[in-house]
Amino acid sequence: MRQPLVAGNWKMNGSTASARALLADIKAGVAAVAKCEVAVCPPFIYLPLAQAELTNTAIAWGAQNLSTEAVGAFTGEISAAMLLDCGCSYVIVGHSERRTLYGEDDQRVATKFAVALAAGLKPILCVGETLEEREQGITEAVIARQLDAVIAAQGASALAAGVIAYEPVWAIGTGKTATPEQAQQVHAFIRGRVAAQDASVAEGLRILYGGSMKPGNAAELMAQPDIDGGLIGGAALVASDFLGICRAAHDSV
Ligand code: PGA
Repeated sequence: MRQPLVAGNWKMNGSTASARALLADIKAGVAAVAKCEVAVCPPFIYLPLAQAELTNTAIAWGAQNLSTEAVGAFTGEISAAMLLDCGCSYVIVGHSERRTLYGEDDQRVATKFAVALAAGLKPILCVGETLEEREQGITEAVIARQLDAVIAAQGASALAAGVIAYEPVWAIGTGKTATPEQAQQVHAFIRGRVAAQDASVAEGLRILYGGSMKPGNAAELMAQPDIDGGLIGGAALVASDFLGICRAAHDSV
């Protein structure tokens, strides 16, 4: 049985005051959703705040990105060691906004995945197709390419220490959620592709859905056999919405 994970991707939102309030509200509600693992990924600059507020709670925290480099003259970058220093256990890699807006290609994402793993962080690898790609009927080919870049570099066994998030680009921040059937189909495809390399890694692998997940649609998504939680953007900024999604994950167990 895979324990569901619900991770909040705060993206570039918030202030010290709002981050503190949001963390306090999530802390207050987490005991009621104990069957779901809960994580938050605030902007880098609020990670020390997360560490201060969440140490010795049931809530994990992580970053939204990391550098491929270890140390040195890389202005503006943040290393895996720095994330560990802030107590992070997770790091998102290959989010579609990184791929699209910051030119991160499959190779770079695979390198980030490897760097995170080598440091002992748990990478949350995002994959997903654009609307155009879905309409062209190449969804599975796109997902396979994104996944295979990591498998080719690291081997399927490396996925055992990570998490995959299927985030159809057309569903991110748009209010358009994949139907449970659409999501399940891709999740099953991902699990099958990993299983072809390593059945036991595939069986234990958590595959999250992301893209306009809300309290109102979370339960039917989580009810799908290959959906093991969510990577939540907009709804992660409102404690009651985020906890509502965690509750759906908790109830799905
Ligand atoms: P959304 O974002 O929940 O706002 O669609 C999800 C994500 O980008 O991780």
